[in-house]
Amino acid sequence: LRTDSKALACLPGFPACFQALIRETELILMKFNPLSGLRGEITIPGDKSISHRSVMFGSLAKGTTKITGFLQGADCLSTISCFRKMGISIENLEDTVLVHGNGLHGLKKPDSVLDCGNSGTTTRLISGILSAQNFSVTLTGDASIQKRPMKRIMDPLSQMGADITSVNGNGCAPLAINGRTLHGIHYQSPVASAQVKSAILLAGLYAEGETKVTEPSLSRNHTELMLKEFGADVRTEKTTAIIRPAEELFAKEIAVPGDISSAAFFLAAGLMIPHSELLIKNVGINPTRDGMIHVCRAMGGDLTLLNVRMTGEPVADILVRTSSLHGTDIHGDIIPTLIDELPMIAAMACFAEGDTIIRDAAELKVKESNRIAVMAENLSAMGADVEETVDGMIIHGGKPLHGATIDSHLDHRIAMTFAITAALAEGETEILGAECVNISYPDFYQDLNKLAQ
Ligand code: S3P
Repeated sequence: LRTDSKALACLPGFPACFQALIRETELILMKFNPLSGLRGEITIPGDKSISHRSVMFGSLAKGTTKITGFLQGADCLSTISCFRKMGISIENLEDTVLVHGNGLHGLKKPDSVLDCGNSGTTTRLISGILSAQNFSVTLTGDASIQKRPMKRIMDPLSQMGADITSVNGNGCAPLAINGRTLHGIHYQSPVASAQVKSAILLAGLYAEGETKVTEPSLSRNHTELMLKEFGADVRTEKTTAIIRPAEELFAKEIAVPGDISSAAFFLAAGLMIPHSELLIKNVGINPTRDGMIHVCRAMGGDLTLLNVRMTGEPVADILVRTSSLHGTDIHGDIIPTLIDELPMIAAMACFAEGDTIIRDAAELKVKESNRIAVMAENLSAMGADVEETVDGMIIHGGKPLHGATIDSHLDHRIAMTFAITAALAEGETEILGAECVNISYPDFYQDLNKLAQ
C-alpha cells in the first residue's frame, strides 16, 4: 500500500492548512499496489447505526447516557452536532461520549438550519423526532443527501399528522418540519428500510395510540432493541414493529460493538488476498446485519466465529483465512441484512469461480451513490465481466483484474471496496475522492496498512 503526498494530507495528524488546501480541489487521490498476506489482529471501529441511535435516544432520555465504542466518523458527528444545536449537552471525550439528555420533551428550537452532512440516518431518523416537537425547523445536508429520496419518510409521517415538506418540491432535503400532534398508524412499508421504520417508530414515541410498521423483509432492528433498553414499550411480531407512546425514556450505558459493515472489507480481504490470516475483533453479529457472514460461507470462505458474547447486541471475534471462492446467488430476505456490504461482495465475486447473481437489491441505487451503476462502471474499468440489472448485478468471476482510475463518487463504501480490490489487481489503482472514508471509517487506510506490514 502506498499513498502519495497529496493523499496523506487528508489523513489525521496532518496540518489543518494543508488539509484545507486539498479539500478545495475536492479530489483526493490515493494510489494502491497489490498486497500479499494480511496477517494479525484488527479491532473494528464502532457500528455507525448504533452510534447514531445512542446519541439520539440519549438526548431524548432523562439522565446521562454513557457511550463507549462510539464511531467518531463524520456521519455520527453530524448527529452530535444536530442535537447540540437543540440544546443537548454532549461531551465527546476520547473513549467515551456523555449525552446529558433533557427528557422526551426537552429539545429546544435550533437557531439555524440543522446540517445532517452526508448522513441519511441522521436526516431520516431526526425527521421522525422533529415531526412531533413544538417548534419548526429546517434540515439539510450535503450534495448527496440533497439527492436522496425523502418521500419515503414524508408520506408515512404526513399520515401520522406531521407537517413535513421538501423545500424545493423535489422530494429531497432540505426539509421543512413544523412540529405537530401526531397519531399512530399501521404503515405497510414498500421498502425494507430501517431508516423509514425508525423514523416512524420515533414519531410513534410521541403519537396518540399505537404505531405499527410492517416491512416486506426485516431490516436492521437496532432502534427496537435500543429503545427497549431506554424503557420504551416496543415489540416485534414477524416483520412488524409496534410501539406505544412513552412518557419518558431513561439514560443507559451503551457499549457500541464494531461495525460489521466496516469489518466486511477485512473479511473480504482476508478471504481473497493470498497467505492471509486475520482476527477481526469485536464485530456486531446481530442477525439482521450478518448476511455478509452467510454469503462468505456460501462462497466457500473459511471463517470462524470466536468468543461470541452479548453486549446489548451480539458480538464475536472473526477469524478469517485465505480461501478459494466460488460464485453464489444472493436475493430475497437476506438482502437487507447485507445491503451495505453488497459493493464489497460484488468485487469479491470477481475473484470467485463462476457466476454470482445479486437480485432484489434495487435499494442500492439510492444509497450515497447509485451503487449498482458505480460498481459496474468501476469493476468494468478494472477488466471485470459485470452486467448491471434492474435490481442488482451479474458478475462472471475468475477474470484477472488490472489497476485503473476509480471514481468513488465520494461514497465511502465504494472507496474502501476498491482499496481492497486494488490489492488483488495487477498494477496500480488510483482512487479519486479517497478521503470520503472519513464518513464511516476514518482510520481505514492506516488499519489496512498496518495489516499489510
Ligand atoms: C441504516 C439503514 C440502512 C443502511 C444505512 C444505515 C440505519 O439504510 O443502508 O447505511 O442506520 O438505519 P436504509 O434504511 O435506507 O436501508
